[in-house]
Amino acid sequence: MNSTTRTLVLSLLACGLVAGAGVEPALKAVFTNNFLIGAALNQRQFSGATNVEVDLVQKHFNTITPENSLKWGNIHPRPGQYVFDQADRFVEFGQKQGMFIVGHTLVWHSQTPRWVFQDEDGKSLTREALQERMRDHIQTVVGRYRGRIRGWDVVNEALNEDGTLRSSGWLKIMGEDYLVKAYQFAHAADPAAELYYNDYGLEGERKLAGALALIKKLQAAGVSLTGVGLQGHYGLERPAANQIEDTIRAFAKLGLKVMITELDVNVLPTPGGGGAEVSTRYATDSKLNPYPDGLPQEMERRLAQRYTELFTIFLKEHAVSRVTFWGVSDRSSWLNNYPIWGRTNYPLLFDRNGRPKPAFQAIVDLHPAPAHPVD
Ligand code: GLA
Repeated sequence: MNSTTRTLVLSLLACGLVAGAGVEPALKAVFTNNFLIGAALNQRQFSGATNVEVDLVQKHFNTITPENSLKWGNIHPRPGQYVFDQADRFVEFGQKQGMFIVGHTLVWHSQTPRWVFQDEDGKSLTREALQERMRDHIQTVVGRYRGRIRGWDVVNEALNEDGTLRSSGWLKIMGEDYLVKAYQFAHAADPAAELYYNDYGLEGERKLAGALALIKKLQAAGVSLTGVGLQGHYGLERPAANQIEDTIRAFAKLGLKVMITELDVNVLPTPGGGGAEVSTRYATDSKLNPYPDGLPQEMERRLAQRYTELFTIFLKEHAVSRVTFWGVSDRSSWLNNYPIWGRTNYPLLFDRNGRPKPAFQAIVDLHPAPAHPVD
């Protein structure tokens, strides 16, 4: 290596763009001109403990989402009672690291206590009472983190697979207008925050058509909607690359930013073909847990290939403004317990010991370091 080359390599190493022996580049540096890159965090990862996963988060990611800490059941477990400790620590962690902090989620059918939809006698609330409860919740939670949580998944998973609206407590009591109201309340609580619609399976033809129609209605009602989140709970083959690409483009055409918000790739055989309907559960069966002691090389290669395919699309589509993984390393992924408890899954870029997997290198390789020397 001559001295010019050595200087170049050292500069690239310093800004995290090439890998040295045992030193992997930082994802946030690799994709700095393309999109934010992030992870969903559990409590252990933002509560001041030091461990391998925390090191990975600090090194690689510039945006974070809480796995559970901002969900209704966690932050507002009983009428009139808000519990902010966890969410406060999450936000402080992100601020300390200078990260873009995402709030997940305000209005959802799941992890929302039953009392939300009932009066003191257990009877269904009136439309006005539920609307007031929604307003209070959004005003309190979004208001508390105004200016610090910069983007919110306002409504999560409002759609069925066939594109119709899911018959949640929100829909049953408030009617379709609940969506408009949720965005209005969020905007009033923090006018500068980005507001998103988030869902899984939007790559399916009917669900996509339903989502586009829903978004057009929200836009016609004048709500402030910045972007749509494709959760990205994918399999090795499904959905197909062209479906993902077409979906991104369809939302971009409506003037929206597109975010991949909960990315992971399930490598295990899964009854029903996968998906992310949280209520789906299957019994334990060792045939459905074929790699308890490690992922065979061939599967590792297929996973890397799938990540290459996905990131090729994300890099090509300029509407993609953020890619967030649902978890940090394979050790703590929800896919070890969903939709079957106690499996050993391998959906992310870092293995159980926090080491980068071939899939990590595959996506880094998609992005060659700039040809010009860095000062
Ligand atoms: C859905 C939700 C997330 C999370 C995952 C599973 O995708 O949006 O908050 O609950 O399911 O962990």
